Amino acid sequence: MPVRPLTIGEVEQAAEAALPPETWDFVSGGSDAEVTLRANRAAFDRIALTPRVLTGVTAPDTSARLAGTDSTLPMAVAPIAYHRLYHPDGELAVARAAKTLGVPLTVATLSSHRLEDIAAVGGPLWFQLYWLRDRGQIVDLLRRAEALDFRCVMLTVDCPPYGRRLRDVRNGFRLPHDVVAANLADPHRHVARAGEPGAASAIASHTDAIMHPALSWRDVAWVRENTRLPLVLKGVLDPRDAVLAVEHGADAVVVSNHGGRQFDGAPAGVAALPAVAEAVAGRCELLVDGGVRHGTDVLKALALGADGVLLGRPVMWGLATDGERGVETVLTILREEFTHALALTGCAGPAAARDLRVTHVREDRPC
Ligand SMILES: Cc1cc2nc3c(=O)[nH]c(=O)nc-3n(C[C@H](O)[C@H](O)[C@H](O)COP(=O)(O)O)c2cc1C
Repeated sequence: MPVRPLTIGEVEQAAEAALPPETWDFVSGGSDAEVTLRANRAAFDRIALTPRVLTGVTAPDTSARLAGTDSTLPMAVAPIAYHRLYHPDGELAVARAAKTLGVPLTVATLSSHRLEDIAAVGGPLWFQLYWLRDRGQIVDLLRRAEALDFRCVMLTVDCPPYGRRLRDVRNGFRLPHDVVAANLADPHRHVARAGEPGAASAIASHTDAIMHPALSWRDVAWVRENTRLPLVLKGVLDPRDAVLAVEHGADAVVVSNHGGRQFDGAPAGVAALPAVAEAVAGRCELLVDGGVRHGTDVLKALALGADGVLLGRPVMWGLATDGERGVETVLTILREEFTHALALTGCAGPAAARDLRVTHVREDRPC
């Protein structure tokens, strides 16, 4: 990136130019007709916030506490598999940038660096757990995360089964030889590699092979009993499931449709958020993700009841363009935009956003 980008949209363009087309499709695409992927952005654009004036706020305090972790911003990096697809330094570069900016990084079960090496960077980390077929590996991952001072376990509940990512099927997407699921006991098992034959997406078949197809509330209870870390459930959209999450001991819920990569037809996270917030009524923390691209999106999420947001693709776009510095750029843009949005709406900090008036703008309304 020769000139420092001013928006996440500019970073996105630079990433598209930098990545091989099939890797670009893998990171940017969604499932089936990508209706939910588009809905994630459209939902934010339909929300308007009414600023307060004459509040005397000059320098808002942006800090937040999310899932028991202090953060300089009400933001954390979402779990994303295989960061080394975008840059050789992968999760290490992202961990360094997240540490510099003071925000938590969620390390994925399918991360391409070992938990131990990522933890050595020294920033605040969360651990994302996929429900693997091998319970012994789940126990091993939980014990390692605890020993390495990860601050919470985020169990992803909207996958498997793996969504139909048609771009990857068409591209016959394969992981390069040097990108592996570094934390699994047998990282090469079930993975078709670049140059190997086969029509479908290799990531889809790999994921279905290692993940247990039937995750249920009983398993959530098992995780709750088998870790002392705060428990976060990621991928909840229905208020009834959010209430069940509270009843099963979840400390936080991520209202999420997996970045439009799972059920195509699901509502945007930010559209599902108000009903979830009403149902849980403060009994657990709420994070939301999907389509967050501006500081104003973060403010909108807070106004609708979230405690914070997760950032997905933008972080990978930054990584693809300029490694650690690219991720720093993305987080800095969002920090500056969010701080400015707080000041412009008269909010002294994230908590004040709850009192902003929210209007839903319908673009299709006839004039
Ligand atoms: C390339 C890619 C890989 C992902 N890998 C995971 C994963 O391993 N575990 C998980 O829970 N979510 C995963 N997600 C979903 C993200 O955590 C997050 O929910 C989503 O990206 C948020 O939407 P956004 O990208 O529009 O910000 C992935 C998303 C992308 C784009």
